[in-house]
This record gives sequence, C-alpha cells and structure tokens, in this order.
Amino acid sequence: MKLVFYGAGNMAHAIFTGIVNSKIIESNDIYLTNRSNEVALKAYADELGVNYSYDDEALLKDADYIFLGTKPYDFDALAERIQPYVSEKNKFISIMAGLPMSYIREQLGSDNPIARIMPNTNAHVGHSVTGISFSSNFGPKSKDEVDDLINAFGSAIEVSEDHLHQVTAITGSGPAFLYHVFEQYVTAGTRLGLEKSQVEESIRNLIIGTSKMIERSDLSMEQLRKNITSKGGTTQAGLNALSQYDLESIFEDCLRSAVNRSVELASQDED
Ligand SMILES: NC(=O)c1ccc[n+]([C@@H]2O[C@H](COP(=O)([O-])OP(=O)(O)OC[C@H]3O[C@@H](n4cnc5c(N)ncnc54)[C@H](OP(=O)(O)O)[C@@H]3O)[C@@H](O)[C@H]2O)c1
Repeated sequence: MKLVFYGAGNMAHAIFTGIVNSKIIESNDIYLTNRSNEVALKAYADELGVNYSYDDEALLKDADYIFLGTKPYDFDALAERIQPYVSEKNKFISIMAGLPMSYIREQLGSDNPIARIMPNTNAHVGHSVTGISFSSNFGPKSKDEVDDLINAFGSAIEVSEDHLHQVTAITGSGPAFLYHVFEQYVTAGTRLGLEKSQVEESIRNLIIGTSKMIERSDLSMEQLRKNITSKGGTTQAGLNALSQYDLESIFEDCLRSAVNRSVELASQDED
C-alpha cells in the first residue's frame, strides 16, 4: 500500500509517525511532500525511513491513499498542483478542518473516493480520537484500511460528514477545554497554601493517574467517582460544593459554541 502525504506539518507529522511506529505498513511505502520546506522532509526521511519527493506525477502514480494535510486556505493551490496527475486508484484522506468533500471534489475535478478525518493533538502520543466520514463511493475494504491507518495513532469514530462539527468540538478542541479546566484546578489548588510548583506537579500526576484508571477500568466514570466517595467524607463535601454550579450547562455552552464556530468557518471556506 502506497501512502502520500501532501503537507508534512504539525498534524501530518503526528499521523505518519504513528503509522510508521505501528509498523502496519513499511516506512518505505510512505511518501512525503510539502510546498517548499525540503529541510523538514529530509529530517523526517532520516528519522523515520520514509521517502520524500516533489515529483507529483510519480507521487500520485500508484498511490492508494493521499493525505491532504495543508491548511484549508492552501488547498486551492494544492489542488491545482495535483489535479493533472490524479488517477483512478487514488483515494483521498483530508485532514483539513472544515473543507467539505463536495468542495475538495470540485477543486480536484475528480470523483475519487474521499474520507475526511478530524484528529486531535493527542495524535502526538498515539491517542487521537479521530472522527471520520467517508464519501459514498468508498468501498468496504478501503474503509477497513483507513480505519487501520487511523487506529495507528489512536482510535476512530465514524460519523456522517455533518457530524464532523460535533466531533471537532468534543474531541478536536477537547484537549484545550480539558487543559483549561486543569489550569483552574491548579490555580485553585495554589490558593490552599502549598507551593505552586508542588501543586502543579501533583496535579499533573493526578491527571495522568486518573487517565490511567479510566483506561484500565471497565467501570463508568460515574461508578469510579462513586467508588471513592464516602458518605459524609471529604470528597462528598467537595462534590456538594461543586453541585451548586450547573457544570453540565457550562460545558454544553462551551461545546455548542465550538460547533457553531466550526459551522461558521466551514461556510466561509466554501465561499
Ligand atoms: N494541528 C492540529 O491540532 C489539527 C487538528 C485537526 C486538524 N488539523 C488540520 O490539519 C491541517 C494542517 O495543519 P497543521 O497544523 O499540520 O499545519 P502546518 O504545520 O502549517 O503544516 C502545513 C503543511 O502544508 C504544506 N503545504 C502548504 N501548501 C502546500 C502545497 N501547495 N502543496 C503541498 N504542501 C503544502 C506546508 O509545507 P511548507 O512547510 O513547505 O510550507 C506544511 O508542510 C489543517 O488543515 C488543519 O485544519 C490540525
């Protein structure tokens, strides 16, 4: 299977590194290209054993999957660059936020199968939750292959293209929302009298440990919480204080605002 990455920036790097490390395909079957930063391509080739090239005809020839990894506003130039060489075999995987399949198809001037994926930054540690949506002409075998590629840097959730906005909000922006909550937790913790550095270090380890508990347990988060909350104890006292605030509505507001912005940005990109 031949994979080509058009754009080898921040997110593409996390994706091809995950794929190489998972060994599901040979690094020699992965090809990178970008606009002009050959130094970056050479460094990735040296580090991972992948290939790089600026010969579009050779890159697209026999390529099974072509990752479209530029910023959305650079896609028109990319489409113009590759359009003459698109062959029947090529299937596209867009990581560009917001650009609809209909737009990508129109710019490429082809009806080749397209998948859109919405990874998140946790791809860097092999834990992206990636939303994926396939065009109707994507065959079942190819879908399985793409799922395998995505599972190489985390996990996949298949949704309709419309629902990628919700995935963008919940898991795409999700790490930033959680970081923000953790930041408040640290700030509040430092007001209790311990050294700031001690609190930061403790909470960092608290978050890592809690994530591992979630990962290793079959229990729901509700049950995990209940298991450590004794009636009349300290945890119960803290939770009682928290329950005075409508946290659910606060997060719903946060997520709906992110969904609305995603819809707004997508409609701007189409103009
Ligand atoms: N970063 C995230 O957390 C995240 C999450 C989800 C989705 N995304 C999506 O991922 C995409 C890339 O984001 P990023 O943060 O990885 O961007 P980035 O680091 O700026 O990388 C962009 C890449 O595109 C290349 N490029 C630009 N024009 C090109 C052209 N005409 N032909 C070939 N390559 C071209 C650039 O090459 P040069 O370096 O040579 O200019 C660079 O390698 C965006 O569309 C974004 O919506 C990102």
